[in-house]
Amino acid sequence: MIRADAVSKAYRDATALDGVCLDLPAGGLTALVGPNGAGKSTLLGVIGRLTRADFGLVEVGGMNVVAARSRDLARRLAVLRQDNHLATRLTVAQLVELGRFPHCGGRLGPADRAAIERAVAATGVGPLAHRFLDELSGGQRQRAHIAMLFAQDAEYVLLDEPLAALDLRHATELMALLRAACDQDGKTVVVVVHDVNYASAWADRIVALKDGRVVATGPPAELVQSDFLSALYGTPVRVVDTGGWPLAVYHR
Ligand SMILES: Nc1ncnc2c1ncn2[C@@H]1O[C@H](COP(=O)(O)OP(=O)(O)OP(=O)(O)O)[C@@H](O)[C@H]1O
Ligand SMILES: [Mg+2]
Repeated sequence: MIRADAVSKAYRDATALDGVCLDLPAGGLTALVGPNGAGKSTLLGVIGRLTRADFGLVEVGGMNVVAARSRDLARRLAVLRQDNHLATRLTVAQLVELGRFPHCGGRLGPADRAAIERAVAATGVGPLAHRFLDELSGGQRQRAHIAMLFAQDAEYVLLDEPLAALDLRHATELMALLRAACDQDGKTVVVVVHDVNYASAWADRIVALKDGRVVATGPPAELVQSDFLSALYGTPVRVVDTGGWPLAVYHR
């Protein structure tokens, strides 16, 4: 499970998180949504110990994330940041290998190589393996980072706007991959998305954040509703029933 209890975080002139309480069971796909500046990245950062909260408690799989040893945390929790532009003079293959560092400390064994192979196959970055990161397109670089994340093979996976640079096919394939990671491997995945239709189609639950607070948590059928989304984003959103999941329409 992932638990946040009364978590607050303020920057010099902004309150990013204002007493956030969150209880996510182990297993399943949670989509974190909300307007720009709502606190999504800050919350993911606090859960993943990239950012220190001012107040409150965060636990992941029973570990207090502030007190946990770095290596213990990194074996169980993987985070893809919103701005993941890591050292550029690395090849994709070298980047993906870095995902195994918490497990092997840099000396890859057979289990590490198997995890790397699985991650490369699942994300389709094989043909890019020997390319340098700074010679890739934005979406290709994003997929390389996702491959690194999968190589880490952690139980808890947090992804901050992984779809942002991806085309329709790669975005859909990534959501399918995250779904399979939950259903087949029992992972617990939290993913920040702006296109609520990805949340609607793939997530078990949606957590909506606004002004540093959790304003709603529930299954897509409950939250993907015209009134709720219009108020959340402050713009008119229609919702149509596709027969499968609710589809939000907001282009015009
Ligand atoms: N390093 C920082 N220094 C100062 N203020 C920050 C910093 N990071 C975030 N903030 C502020 O904290 C609030 C929450 O930011 P956060 O990045 O968590 O939002 P978000 O929901 O991820 O938004 P987006 O959808 O734009 O990525 C915003 O008001 C932002 O300006
Ligand atoms: Mg963000």
